[in-house]
Amino acid sequence: MWTTILCLSIVLFSVVSQDVYNNVVKERNDILHRELDMMLGNDIELCDSEMKANDIIMDLKRQEIEGGFLEPQAFNLSKHFFEYKDVVKESQLFKLIQKMPKGAILHAHDTGLLSPDYVLNVTYLPDLHVCFEENDIRLLFSTNTPDETCETQWQLMKDARYSSGNVERFDSELRKYFSIVIDNPSEVHTDVNSVWLKFQQYFITTGAMFGYKPVWEQYFYDTLKACRDDNVMYIEIRSVLPELYDLDGNVYDSVETAVSYKETLDRFMSDYPDFYGAKLIYAPLRMVDAKTVKQYIEIAKEIKRKLPDFFAGFDLVGQEDKGSPTKDFLAELVEARWELDYFFHAGETNWYGTSSDENLIDAIVLGSRRIGHAFALTKHPLLIDEIVKRDIAIEVNVVSNAVLKLVEDVRNHPLASFLAQDLPVVLSSDDPGVWEAEPLSHDFYVAFVGVASKHADLRMLKKLALNSLYYSTIKDKDKIAHDFEIRWTKFIDSVVRGNVFY
Ligand SMILES: *[C@@H]1O[C@H](CO)[C@@H](O)[C@H](O)[C@H]1NC(C)=O
Ligand SMILES: *[C@@H]1O[C@H](CO)[C@@H](O)[C@H](O)[C@H]1NC(C)=O
Ligand SMILES: [Zn+2]
Repeated sequence: MWTTILCLSIVLFSVVSQDVYNNVVKERNDILHRELDMMLGNDIELCDSEMKANDIIMDLKRQEIEGGFLEPQAFNLSKHFFEYKDVVKESQLFKLIQKMPKGAILHAHDTGLLSPDYVLNVTYLPDLHVCFEENDIRLLFSTNTPDETCETQWQLMKDARYSSGNVERFDSELRKYFSIVIDNPSEVHTDVNSVWLKFQQYFITTGAMFGYKPVWEQYFYDTLKACRDDNVMYIEIRSVLPELYDLDGNVYDSVETAVSYKETLDRFMSDYPDFYGAKLIYAPLRMVDAKTVKQYIEIAKEIKRKLPDFFAGFDLVGQEDKGSPTKDFLAELVEARWELDYFFHAGETNWYGTSSDENLIDAIVLGSRRIGHAFALTKHPLLIDEIVKRDIAIEVNVVSNAVLKLVEDVRNHPLASFLAQDLPVVLSSDDPGVWEAEPLSHDFYVAFVGVASKHADLRMLKKLALNSLYYSTIKDKDKIAHDFEIRWTKFIDSVVRGNVFY
């Protein structure tokens, strides 16, 4: 009798507990899927061939992530970018992403896009003079010895190179000025300021060489070519628009510099009509006073009048922790906001509650169409709401943020949280040439494998590419979306047929 009761209660108990267990499992799966459905890309529906391609892509992605999950010490993407930038190019997934149509680059700086090997080639052009100083070099094109002061003496680059006795060593020393890549970044790039100094030095050293008008135009032409080669169809490029010069002593002001870009673009488009084009964001240095910003604004307005279809808008650049905060120029920027579209860098910082962090608020209230970096955004729930409400895109540059010391391990990049919430994200690359990255492929690969969820798939990749078109300033969005779809279909076809790796 007692045993019967005991048995009965055990059976009853286990039935109930099985039920509870099943409910918990169901709830767990529901929650998992509800959250996955919130992720960027959730609104993309894949057709049959895309689903096949997705299986191939996800197999490759799982292999890479599972390998790393088991052996974290071997996971490429948790190391320093300088350590893995070349080895990942061997990854099949990287090659696939390189072939993938990625849409547009919406955040990149004009003289930071090409590799140090490209810049080294520029030093082979005739009439380049060099001055070796204690810790730096100066470079200037000129028919005669330049008048500018030099701590040692100006020489023709050609003479310096061939009198060095070892051209190879000379070139490899020279190349170091054109890249911030080094073997021991953890010892040398110890904090944000030390790496920024080196980064800014690149722009100072190359500035006078790139300011020679023929080189300036060729660099832009070759940038467009490099973007096209990396399967990017359109670029909105930021420039400080420096004065240019030529060998006849002519000097060209910022407006003329913008015109020279437009003429170069026209030449490129007639050579490569399948490229979609480029627009200009005038982005001068922020470490100035309000009076100077007022002058910048006048220049921006003039360029807009002169080149209405080429001019996209206005921004300010430079290290935010050190430069003047945007609020110092609020009056000037408020006044011009109906005439100029804004694309402010903001919140490119690890600090919280500082002027650099609060630049995010200024960017929003000034009506920015997109915000550059917004690295600090995760700490601001209200600002996230505003960004969604106002449909302001966030231009995320993962590799830049890693190299410039905002994050050590990209798995901790705030982009993970932006993607999880389906915030309006576009991926970009900032200054890929300076750290020897491809124009856009490294950033897509690192974001997809190292930052996004293991579950994030082809839908996310497609959505990121589509976002870059949607949040661009292109007027005819239907046409570019249609052109993109044609390229995309070809790409999917090559993935399914296995041709994409060759
Ligand atoms: C690092 O990348 C290389 C090249 O793709 C690959 O052979 C290697 O397996 C990767 N390591 C891990 C753990 O993913
Ligand atoms: C540099 O010039 C050499 C010789 O003209 C050329 O083969 C090479 O492709 C150039 N490199 C780059 C990165 O443009
Ligand atoms: Zn930038």
